[in-house]
Order: sequence, then structure tokens, then C-alpha cells
Amino acid sequence: MSTDKKPSGLAGIVAGETAICTVGKEGLGLTYRGYSIKDLAAQATFEEVAFLLLRGQLPSASDLAAYCQTLAALRGLPAALKTVLEQLPASSHPMDVLRTGCSALGCFEPEGKDRDALHVANRLLAAFPSMLLYWHHFARTGQRIETQTDDPNMAAHFLRLLWGKPADDLRVQTLDASFILYAEHEFNASTFAARVTTSTLADFYSAIGAGIGALRGPLHGGANEAAMELIETFSSPDDAEAGLMQMLQRKTLIMGFGHRVYKTSDPRNEPIKARARTLAKAVGDTRLFPIAERIEAVIWREKKLFPNLDFYSALAYHFSGIPTPLFTPIFVIARTSGWAAHIMEQRANNRLIRPTADYTGPEPRPFVPLAQR
Ligand code: ACO
Repeated sequence: MSTDKKPSGLAGIVAGETAICTVGKEGLGLTYRGYSIKDLAAQATFEEVAFLLLRGQLPSASDLAAYCQTLAALRGLPAALKTVLEQLPASSHPMDVLRTGCSALGCFEPEGKDRDALHVANRLLAAFPSMLLYWHHFARTGQRIETQTDDPNMAAHFLRLLWGKPADDLRVQTLDASFILYAEHEFNASTFAARVTTSTLADFYSAIGAGIGALRGPLHGGANEAAMELIETFSSPDDAEAGLMQMLQRKTLIMGFGHRVYKTSDPRNEPIKARARTLAKAVGDTRLFPIAERIEAVIWREKKLFPNLDFYSALAYHFSGIPTPLFTPIFVIARTSGWAAHIMEQRANNRLIRPTADYTGPEPRPFVPLAQR
């Protein structure tokens, strides 16, 4: 039995190779297929980024138009899937709804000779907003919404399904940028879960389902919902400062802060914070944004921890009028592009992912039959 102290949580362990993304490489921050996240978030659309992740290069104008049409044509849901969604309780967490919807679609439209990996990737990308918001409305009001819209992009489609009417440009652009920021992040927990599942030669839906499960927890994607709850707890910046000092004394984790790889800042924070600030002005907020900035200042002063993408994403969504329980599902919708790219990359050069463990249990011992225990 080894007594060597090993790094926990695979921190710092190189667990494979990827050509999709770099995280925290000096001077670059975050790149998708060699392009900086700052350029992508400022100048690209989510559909361009999804194409880039899945196909390895930026689309031409005609590629992009065709890709947007492909995705738009895949927004409808089969009647049998709607029936499944209608059975799910209104009290379900929307992440559980997406996990179930993914699994059910895998039964109705299995991957196989008629549906290749790229088709399933696009189908899930297009269908996740539809599943989520079909259930959202049905569970609340019994309304069966039409999910096949002709909106040009996923952000506009999502917001139209949510509100039943077209959204304004500012909110569409904010959601689109947030999809880009959330799209991909190398060997994070959910992507690694998807790659481990893929490595057993499981089907595409199983790998995406594994990703959704891993993303649900508050140490990963669930942090955006927890961050919103934290910000809303406080009545003013001073109240936030006092509350945080108590939380830090109790060694409470502050959701939306810190990162496994980044050490001084998250390169996705600046673009999402700028968008949250613009929306705060647009909605006339004078409370939540100043509270968030005070939380940021206190956590940096006391712990040298910085906001990760989840912290100001929460405010950007909140000011966009998106209900908090839908925050992590939005992360799923965006990250499906990255998960899908990793599933295809893993398949292209697969070997079963199966590490070993240091044993810390009892020494070998004789079995004691039940009657003698
Ligand atoms: N609040 C308070 N203390 C923290 C936080 C935090 N958010 N993050 C790290 N620390 C502290 C730890 O308690 C630990 O202190 P210690 O050395 O005194 O025990 C130290 O900083 C190092 O932290 P680790 O937990 O070892 O960092 P790890 O790399 O394992 O965890 C993680 C990274 C999970 C992101 C962590 O920072 C965290 O729990 N943050 C809050 C949850 C969160 O925001 N998750 C979103 C991640 S980003 C994303 O999914 C888009």
C-alpha cells in the first residue's frame, strides 16, 4: 500500500492530447482551434464557433448560411419526446429535464447508419433549447409551444421560445456571446466525463448525457445559478461585504470564484462582465451590479480569488430576464458544441480511458461466513 501523497482531483495531470482548445497557456488565455476567445466573443457568432469546433476551421459565408439552415431545420421535437417531457414534474430541475431529453432522443433517433456523429451533434445542439423550453412552458401552464421557429440563430430562437415573442438585439447578442464563451474548455470535468464514456465505444447520446451529469454540480456548471442566489442575498454592497466576511470566516465556498487552471483571472470574465454592465444600465439596475462588484473586490482582497465565467454570466442572464434555473441548461446548450468536438476527437484516436488507483483499504484477510459473524 503506497503512502505517497498524490495530487487530488487529477490537478496538473496531462490526461491526453487535444487539437481543439488551449486553456491558460501563457499569453493566450483561452483559444478554440487557435483563435483567441476575445476575438471570437467580439466578432463571431455561436454558429460560426460551433462549426469551427466541429469541423476544425471557420466557415465561409456560404458554409455558415448552410450550417444555420441545417440547425434551424433540426429544432422540431418528435411527438414521442414531447410526451416524455410532459410526464416530467414541474418541480424537476431543468438539468434533469435535459439529461432525460437527451437520453429519450437517443431512443427515438439512435446514432447509427442513418445518423452519423455529426448529425447527432447538430440534432442535439438544435433540439436542446426546444426540449428545455417545451417542458418549461408545459410544466408551468400546460401550453404546448411550437419549437420549430425560423429565427436565424440559436440565441434568438432560445429567447423567442422563452418569451413567445422576438427578443431585442441587445439580449440576443448577449446570449450569443455567452454561448461562445461557454462553448469549449479543454479537459474540464464534463468534457472529460464525455471522453471517458466515448472511450468505451458508447454511443453519442450516452457521452453527452455523461457530460450533462457532470456539469450539473455547483463546482462546475451549477455555479452560475449558485452565484445568482448569492448576489441576490444581499441588499447593498456594504451588506455584501459584511456577509462575505462572515462566509469566509466559516470557510464557505464562494460560488463563481476560483478556477482549477487559471491562477490570476479567467479570460472569459472581462467580456461577460462588460455585457452584464451594459445590461445593468439598460434595465436601470442600481443594486445587483454594484453588489457583484463589491463581492469581486472583497474576494480578491481577502483570498486573491477572481470571478470565473459563471459569476457575471449569472447577472447577464438575470438582466436578460432569464429565470435562474435555466442558467446551467444554457451552459449545456453551448457546451454541447465542445463536447461533440471532443467525442469525435476521442473516437478518431481512441483507447479506453482506464486509470488505476492507489489502494488504501484493509490488508488481505480471511472471509468470515455469515453464520460466524
Ligand atoms: N471560495 C472560497 N475559497 C475558495 C474558492 C471559492 N470559490 N475556490 C477556491 N478556494 C480555496 C479553497 O478552499 C482552497 O483553500 P485551502 O488551500 O485553504 O484549502 C484553495 O482556494 C484552493 O482551492 P481548491 O479547492 O484546491 O481548488 P480546485 O482547483 O480544487 O477547485 C474550483 C477549483 C472547484 C473551481 C473551486 O475554485 C471552487 O469550488 N469554486 C467555486 C465553484 C465555482 O465557481 N465553479 C465554477 C468553475 S468554472 C466553470 O465551471 C465555468
